[in-house]
Amino acid sequence: MMLWKRLGSAAAGAAMFVSGSTALATTIGFSQVGDEGDWRPAFSKDMQAEAPKEGITLKFADAQGKQEDQLKAVRAFIAQKVDAIIIAPVVVTGWQQVLTEAKRAGIPVFLVDRDVEVSDKSLYVTRISADFNLEGKLAGAWLAQASKGSCNIVELQGTVGSAPAIERKKGFEAIIANFPNMKITKSQSGDFTTEGGKKVMEAFIKSTDNLKGVCGVFAHNDNMQLGAIQAMKEAGLKPGKDFRMVSVDYVPAMKKALAAGDSNASVELRSAIGKYIYPVVLQYLKDKKPLDKWIVIPSDLHTAATPGS
Ligand code: AHR
Repeated sequence: MMLWKRLGSAAAGAAMFVSGSTALATTIGFSQVGDEGDWRPAFSKDMQAEAPKEGITLKFADAQGKQEDQLKAVRAFIAQKVDAIIIAPVVVTGWQQVLTEAKRAGIPVFLVDRDVEVSDKSLYVTRISADFNLEGKLAGAWLAQASKGSCNIVELQGTVGSAPAIERKKGFEAIIANFPNMKITKSQSGDFTTEGGKKVMEAFIKSTDNLKGVCGVFAHNDNMQLGAIQAMKEAGLKPGKDFRMVSVDYVPAMKKALAAGDSNASVELRSAIGKYIYPVVLQYLKDKKPLDKWIVIPSDLHTAATPGS
């Protein structure tokens, strides 16, 4: 679908709505995954900063990576009769019941960032997020080109059962499947953290005699890649030079790693997206017009030679 066009018109409509009705405060509950890595806190900060600009009172709940805490937070928002609930779900499963409770209470739910698997999609209004599968494809395509289609890859997966871990892996694998000499030789979850990425890479280094035969590292996020880079350097290896390094997020620390030549490419996941999310929610609260089930935020890949903003 025409994302920016849709976001643009929704944003314009909602802005009109807000400026013309400042007396009407809107209360929104936002259940956030946690504060892992660098991308997530940047996203939380943006959501908190943008809310007052849109005339929104935001109730922010950090689930510390635990789905049970998210379920509690959503139930608390329902009890508080908020106008809308925004959820960035930790994992894809286990949402049917609580979303049904929100629907029964007449509170619209919006998914942001991560996805859920539910049999009844009417349980949420829309999901506003990047396309994680495309991110995996962009990473795979970059590595295929950089290695001329011949590469043994080690993979650092994100949180098990989370939409970005599932979809980035699928997208990456779909691309490398086109190249008979590209394969993932080791794959493990580092839970989207720097420490997790470092630990997993240390284990890979041990079990492969210093990454013998390995040509590339695909990490589902930058923080795990930054941890992997540390582990590789400590083992006397040269990431970014002797190993092709690609990951997702494009956080400031990764921009530095790219510039220093310690990493080679990162797919940007935008974090300043409150300005797109809130207008969609506000417009829906105003007119209740059904929305497409997925409003996609674009992704693009950057290298040191092709930096983003
Ligand atoms: O859901 C998006 C992912 O979650 C980001 O890529 C990662 O850094 C975060 O933890």
